[in-house]
Amino acid sequence: MKWQTKAFILRQLSQIPLGKRLYLLMQKMAGSNRPQPGRDFARIVELLGMIKEAGQSSQGGIFFEIGSGWHPYAPLGCYLAGAEKIITVDVNPWMSLKSARECITASEDHLAQFAEAAGLDESTVSGRYRDIDLAALKLDKLLASMRTEYQSPGDASRTGLDSQSVDFIISSNVLEHIPAPVLKAITEEAFRILKPGGLYVHRFNPGDHYANDDNSVSTANFLQYSSTAWKKYGEGLAYHNRLRCSEFSKIFREAGFVSLLEKKRVDPQARQVLENKSITLNDEFEKFSLEDLAADYMWYTGMKPTAISVDSQSNAMGDVAFSQKS
Ligand SMILES: C[S@@+](CC[C@H](N)C(=O)[O-])C[C@H]1O[C@@H](n2cnc3c(N)ncnc32)[C@H](O)[C@@H]1O
Repeated sequence: MKWQTKAFILRQLSQIPLGKRLYLLMQKMAGSNRPQPGRDFARIVELLGMIKEAGQSSQGGIFFEIGSGWHPYAPLGCYLAGAEKIITVDVNPWMSLKSARECITASEDHLAQFAEAAGLDESTVSGRYRDIDLAALKLDKLLASMRTEYQSPGDASRTGLDSQSVDFIISSNVLEHIPAPVLKAITEEAFRILKPGGLYVHRFNPGDHYANDDNSVSTANFLQYSSTAWKKYGEGLAYHNRLRCSEFSKIFREAGFVSLLEKKRVDPQARQVLENKSITLNDEFEKFSLEDLAADYMWYTGMKPTAISVDSQSNAMGDVAFSQKS
């Protein structure tokens, strides 16, 4: 599908009453939101791996997920990894009893692979899976049996949670859909509710998503447009903030997080398009490096400093005492 056609359809749906429901129905008919346990378990394995890489354990942890989506793969993965509690929040109530059941049922055949990839004991994972109440007649009961609480519509910038009450705040494929001022407010709230030493762990996609539907354009396509011109294509259901990786890093840093991991993936097609000047970069993006412009994925782990880590940082005169990868 031509990307402008998809943008037009999403714009119309964003503007009509029941547009969100219609969007969900169209996704169901196209099969684009069917459960994909292989893909989605791999994503949560990445987040759990980032926690492990930071020297921490998911076992017994209290998790907060931003952007639950249609299927509770991230809560399921955290639960199977031994989380004590998972709170998952979304502005849109996409998840239903049916979609959650489908996700959990489809996961059964992938448990061994998940356990191996996440470095977990397979029989412990299977035992936890068997404890899930798949016969529950209400979504909240089903989710409660995997230690999960779903809040939707929920506001991740005003969680109502106590300060220093959460170990890990995670998201997958969400942060690029949040306007910068809201992301700042969410990141400040995250800093407040995380315990000292708690982790802010995200994977997200800063590239133009229309490139997934239209292979005549690259993930750099939207960098041609000014903010005003882009409104026509990237508002409502199609919202993308177009922030570059360096801008995400700045938001996290300014909220007080110490960066433990910042890794980005550069899309070779986007890089080529930009190098060849096949598209004209809008002035708003001229200040960014080629890598920053062509990045189509970012993985970030930030830590809320403990008194000790703040001390070691100031002793090192800004030379952060943690490994930083790119
Ligand atoms: C692309 S989906 C990803 C869903 C899920 N994390 C996954 O990987 O399947 C993005 C989700 O972020 C949600 N979202 C967007 N802005 C949000 C916000 N400010 N707070 C919480 N969720 C948000 C959307 O409603 C949507 O469900």
